[in-house]
Amino acid sequence: MLRLVATGPGPDAAIRLEGVSLRRGGRMVLDGLHLAIPATGITAIMGPNGAGKSLSLRVMAGLIEPDSGSVLPSEAVRGRQEIALVFQKPVLLRRSVRANLRHALAVYGVPRRKRRERLGELLDFGRLAAIADAPARALSGGEQQRVAMVRALAACPKLLLLDEPTASLDPQATAAIETLILNTAASGTAVVIVTHDQGQAGRLADHIRFVHKGALTEAAPAAQFLLAQKSPEAQAYLAGKLLL
Ligand SMILES: Nc1ncnc2c1ncn2[C@@H]1O[C@H](COP(=O)(O)OP(=O)(O)OP(=O)(O)O)[C@@H](O)[C@H]1O
Ligand SMILES: [Mg+2]
Repeated sequence: MLRLVATGPGPDAAIRLEGVSLRRGGRMVLDGLHLAIPATGITAIMGPNGAGKSLSLRVMAGLIEPDSGSVLPSEAVRGRQEIALVFQKPVLLRRSVRANLRHALAVYGVPRRKRRERLGELLDFGRLAAIADAPARALSGGEQQRVAMVRALAACPKLLLLDEPTASLDPQATAAIETLILNTAASGTAVVIVTHDQGQAGRLADHIRFVHKGALTEAAPAAQFLLAQKSPEAQAYLAGKLLL
């Protein structure tokens, strides 16, 4: 893994990508990306389709090693289970919700005697108690996304990365996920959410990072960014005029 331990990401950052580049299919899909994720609060990564948002999450989670550049996690997120990534289309086990979470607790090495209590906490946190014994794959999209998020939290990560967690969900399911995200951040876990939804960014985010063509175009506090973007790319994107 390309992880420099001697130097950290700098003050107040959970993780920092420095000049990260990645080539796929004969072109640069991440192109000298500089991206610092604050250690507290919710950071929304925005940008058009194909900008490199999902790939940058995978790089942060250590699933992809960049061709060049540095990935600098802070001390707090350096452990193997400190960064959790929830994919846009998470895959649950063909078992009950309860069994999915129990499996995660075992995989994450939670001692056997603590699993029952922790399971109860996770079910409560995700408001999943009523559907705990339902087959996970039969649940609605919103319920499955909630299970996937809570499953990721079974590891007690310090940094939770969410790739478009409410894409294609109705307003009610979206609201349930957003509540879960706010509660997660309030409990002290830094959260990164990739979203195309300005409204959602406004409701959730403290910080915005705008990515375009594999590079960072703008980084700002959310309130400031959503009011007035500085970069022409972000202005065009939010006006619905930037496609690639
Ligand atoms: N294995 C691969 N081979 C070729 N190209 C790839 C590969 N993986 C990703 N890409 C390309 O890299 C670019 C960035 O992909 P990424 O999934 O990070 O985009 P994104 O910003 O998440 O977009 P979206 O908003 O559509 O989810 C895309 O153009 C994608 O087609
Ligand atoms: Mg994506």
